[in-house]
Amino acid sequence: MVRKLGDLYHQLKEQLSPVSDAPEYEAREILLQKLGAAPADILMNRSVELDDACQAELDTLVKRRLDHEPLQYLLGEWSFYGRSFLVGEGVLIPRPDTEILAETVLSFLQDREGPLRVLELCGGSGCLAATIALEQPRARVWSVEKSPEAFSYLTRNCERLRADVCCVAGDALDPGVVEGDFDCILSNPPYLSARDMAELSPEVQREPFMALYGEEDGLFFYRELTRLWKKRLKPGGMLAYEIGMGQQDDVADILTRHELTDVCQVRDYGGIIRVLTARLSDAP
Ligand SMILES: C[S@@+](CC[C@H](N)C(=O)[O-])C[C@H]1O[C@@H](n2cnc3c(N)ncnc32)[C@H](O)[C@@H]1O
Repeated sequence: MVRKLGDLYHQLKEQLSPVSDAPEYEAREILLQKLGAAPADILMNRSVELDDACQAELDTLVKRRLDHEPLQYLLGEWSFYGRSFLVGEGVLIPRPDTEILAETVLSFLQDREGPLRVLELCGGSGCLAATIALEQPRARVWSVEKSPEAFSYLTRNCERLRADVCCVAGDALDPGVVEGDFDCILSNPPYLSARDMAELSPEVQREPFMALYGEEDGLFFYRELTRLWKKRLKPGGMLAYEIGMGQQDDVADILTRHELTDVCQVRDYGGIIRVLTARLSDAP
């Protein structure tokens, strides 16, 4: 059947509006990515040949979205730091705020000389590990992920992007999972509290519990990862965490109690303190 893209766009927008805060954006993304349309095709209301299979796929996407599945899972990929990462059920969707952690780590590595060893704990889709490996060729990067579903995305994304990351299926709470010391250890761990979990939107509830829940107060992983991994930093090495809104004082307290120094805060594009870093002293 021949359909006009502008009409399809308006129809999709109406269909998605009960569940979406941005139905125009979502309708456009679906048409661009699933029908291979160009933005001008929609604006000019150009015709498109929609066979039965294609129409059925669009209908299924709308049904899944009305069931609160996130747009990113429907599209099957999402952008992070200018690259596209495969996403779907079982893996956390990369967030723009997390780019701040990537930038902070890259800037630290740039100022450090020689070959570099970088460890990411709680790798998820691989957005951080792959970005760091691709942007800083002097870095040898490891990424540890416990969930088998997320691990499959981690390996596929690193392969697809040709990012030289050593993907480790294992528990970040077991420091035996990777050997050696590191110039930088980073993590965007699960950091939502029990209270946060009770207030999640239906879309975020579709993301893996294991990627979100940081125990009762949300700080479990900051306490444990700092305790277990601080000894694995090289002298002058940096521990870098993404944190949730308002967690900076508690996480800074954890870092200083473990005798890490130079605690620094970095804000995200919305002005929220999103990253905390600390250093292991240079002195032996
Ligand atoms: C907040 S997500 C971050 C994912 C990715 N690094 C990002 O920034 O988008 C946390 C990840 O930690 C993983 N995870 C939870 N507990 C873990 C553990 N004990 N060991 C390793 N990974 C764990 C989850 O499966 C999830 O993929």
